[in-house]
Amino acid sequence: MIAITGASGHLGKATLEFLLAKTNADSLVAIARDPEKVADLASQGIIVRQGDYGDPASLVASLAGVDKVLLISSSVLGEERVRQHTNVINAAKEAGVKHIFYTSAPNPSPSAHFAPAIDHFQTENLLNESGLTYTIFRNNLYLDVLPGLIGDAAQSGKLYYPGGDGKISFVLRTDIAEALATALTSEGHENKVYDIGAPTAWSFGDIARALSQADKSVEYIDIPNTAYEAELVKHLPAPVAKVYAGMAEGIKDNDFNQPDSTLEKLLGHQPVSLESFLKTLALA
Ligand SMILES: NC(=O)c1ccc[n+]([C@@H]2O[C@H](COP(=O)([O-])OP(=O)(O)OC[C@H]3O[C@@H](n4cnc5c(N)ncnc54)[C@H](OP(=O)(O)O)[C@@H]3O)[C@@H](O)[C@H]2O)c1
Repeated sequence: MIAITGASGHLGKATLEFLLAKTNADSLVAIARDPEKVADLASQGIIVRQGDYGDPASLVASLAGVDKVLLISSSVLGEERVRQHTNVINAAKEAGVKHIFYTSAPNPSPSAHFAPAIDHFQTENLLNESGLTYTIFRNNLYLDVLPGLIGDAAQSGKLYYPGGDGKISFVLRTDIAEALATALTSEGHENKVYDIGAPTAWSFGDIARALSQADKSVEYIDIPNTAYEAELVKHLPAPVAKVYAGMAEGIKDNDFNQPDSTLEKLLGHQPVSLESFLKTLALA
């Protein structure tokens, strides 16, 4: 059996949808802290089990009879996140799971500007030391978050961001889900660490050019990170604003500049590009 944690989230649900096309529903387990959120999956025949990253006993029970589990990284940050991931890894060992897949980020490091990459660094180490067979997907930034980063640039003609010339290998979340479903149902991914990103990378200058139309050009304005964080703090809790500001610093330092062909190989087709994503939003 293959289990997916965080099955109520965007990536978990999408991965299960791709898995349904590859294997029987009754060999799939959707683990959610609130099973009501995945009632649609249950109605398709997928086994639904309750499991909370903060509750080790629920995790061990939810992983009974499971061969492979995809641990979708938690949405909390810092030490709590690592504690939750530790609970899942320990539960997988206790339940006799053979192979654990994990959603990480590019360039995990104890000194990363992007705070979640610090938690990913610690979780990757835990996986290495766990004795379990593992596969790590270092997922690049979702294309799905791009509209939130560019704001009204297409209309105003000004794209403000503190990203310097740093590039990002943006990737569509459903492309990651499809690649995860392929890896979960095939061999050859044992103890591998994959950079999951587009084969090309884009700077914010490139994004401004892609947003530009014949009758309206969009200019990229590289603002100071402090000004960006000061603006974010007007709309978001301070710790969240700090994470976004840290992400921008990481982008400027090219931490997300990881063009790679692994995703395309796993998909067997080209991933959705930034240009075609902008076209679907009618922005290019
Ligand atoms: N690469 C990127 O650009 C990017 C962007 C955003 C996030 N991420 C990371 O990638 C992960 C997956 O992305 P996504 O789009 O699927 O995020 P999402 O839609 O927010 O899903 C997160 C999932 O984690 C579950 N979860 C959180 N805390 C939990 C707990 N204590 N116990 C059990 N489940 C818990 C959530 O359950 P509930 O439905 O109950 O809340 C949800 O199912 C995120 O969690 C985050 O770590 C990456």
